[in-house]
Amino acid sequence: MASIDYDSKIPNNVNLSDDRRLQRALEEWQPNFIDWWMEMGPDGFQADDVYLRTAVSVEKDGWAHFGHVKMPDYRWGIFLAPTEGERKVNFGDHMGEDAWQQVPGDYRNALRRIIVTQGDTEPASVEQQRQLGHSAPSLYDLRNLFQVNVEEGRHLWAMVYLLHSYFGRDGREEAEALLARRSGDSDSPRILGAFNEPIADWLSFFCFTTFTDRDGKYQLRALAESGFDPLARTCTFMLTEEAHHMFVGQTGVERILRRTAEATRGGADPKAAGVVPFEMVQRAVNLWYSLSLDLFGGEDSSNAALFFGAGLKGRDLEHKLDEHRALEQRYTLERVVGDRLVKEDVPLRRAMNEVLRDAYVNDCEKVVRSWNRALEEVGSDLRVALPSRRFNRAQGLYAGMHFTPDGEMTSAQAFETNRAAWLPTDEDRAYMRSLQTRAYTKPGEFAPWISPPTRGIDGQPVDFEYVKFCR
Ligand SMILES: [Fe+2]
Ligand SMILES: [Fe+2]
Repeated sequence: MASIDYDSKIPNNVNLSDDRRLQRALEEWQPNFIDWWMEMGPDGFQADDVYLRTAVSVEKDGWAHFGHVKMPDYRWGIFLAPTEGERKVNFGDHMGEDAWQQVPGDYRNALRRIIVTQGDTEPASVEQQRQLGHSAPSLYDLRNLFQVNVEEGRHLWAMVYLLHSYFGRDGREEAEALLARRSGDSDSPRILGAFNEPIADWLSFFCFTTFTDRDGKYQLRALAESGFDPLARTCTFMLTEEAHHMFVGQTGVERILRRTAEATRGGADPKAAGVVPFEMVQRAVNLWYSLSLDLFGGEDSSNAALFFGAGLKGRDLEHKLDEHRALEQRYTLERVVGDRLVKEDVPLRRAMNEVLRDAYVNDCEKVVRSWNRALEEVGSDLRVALPSRRFNRAQGLYAGMHFTPDGEMTSAQAFETNRAAWLPTDEDRAYMRSLQTRAYTKPGEFAPWISPPTRGIDGQPVDFEYVKFCR
């Protein structure tokens, strides 16, 4: 089960050839996927050879294979983590029952919604990032961008496999719709807010992969606990791919910060020095962190309670917790009453989005600490900070209200007065554009606004030819 059959048209470890109906359905979807990839995937680099990794097995260390491939020839496929014997539903009202190998009728709509919402984010991010190759700061970064892109494409495959296998006709329709929506399109946008925001420069890309891909990590961790076994096993394998995306983001922001700190050490003006001003990095962090917090959904949510009670979506590392029903406990939220924040207890199940957000916030705090250690190392006094989770929210209890990055309530007017200090401005965007007018494409060459990484990919040197241009 663990090895992947790369000889079939659709690489897989699910014995696809045993299910002719499913195989045919996916083979019909495949050309539409390639059409979408050619139209909406990375612009301008489809004929080039990119040093990509391909999974050779679904074990944790199954990433043995690296080689130069053209992106349209990437072996997208269907890989599930192996079954762990007799899996049970591990939380909620069905705890102790056998995990479902088919969709339980009562939860069909809820499960489909979960899968479609997750699936929609995967092609969306590829669309958001499609122009970035033209301003890549190095071949190393260009390669990392494309690795992220092809894997998001594979994540789409993962969700489409579930839709085709387990949801019949409406699943097939949803799979088509996943290729039809477009990030940022006014008529047919992607489902979730952050996935309709433009990612026009590499600072945004690195913040997106740090914060928004990290939301993905927590959604996948919660779904990896699911009582619907095929979903749990799919998400478990996706998580092994996701780790690299967050690495790209975290190290990318860190390399920008290092470069800025070094170039401004003697008090030089960052713009005159051609690097990214520290405040601009902080504003981008504020934006992408707050957009990503929204993706977890409302703090007090009947859907979250239903998903947990039904055994569809667990908590982060649910299997390591002591108690799995969450029936008696309560969770303290801060709700706005008048012009004050008031503590309020809600049943724990209703707060499951917030519980997952807590795990995410902790993880983000670790990332920021690592950035600040890097700043300290290069002798800078600058420090990045995460804004309050109430800041700039468009979903949940704090949507439509105004909070400072410190979490203090403020007026709409005061927020507008400070907007340019707290969130990216047109001027920031224009400055990033002015830095990123071309790609740096000679091996070992780096844009002057970012430090080289400390090591290359797969043990290769930093100046390795990660992308070979075929023109
Ligand atoms: Fe993904
Ligand atoms: Fe990702």
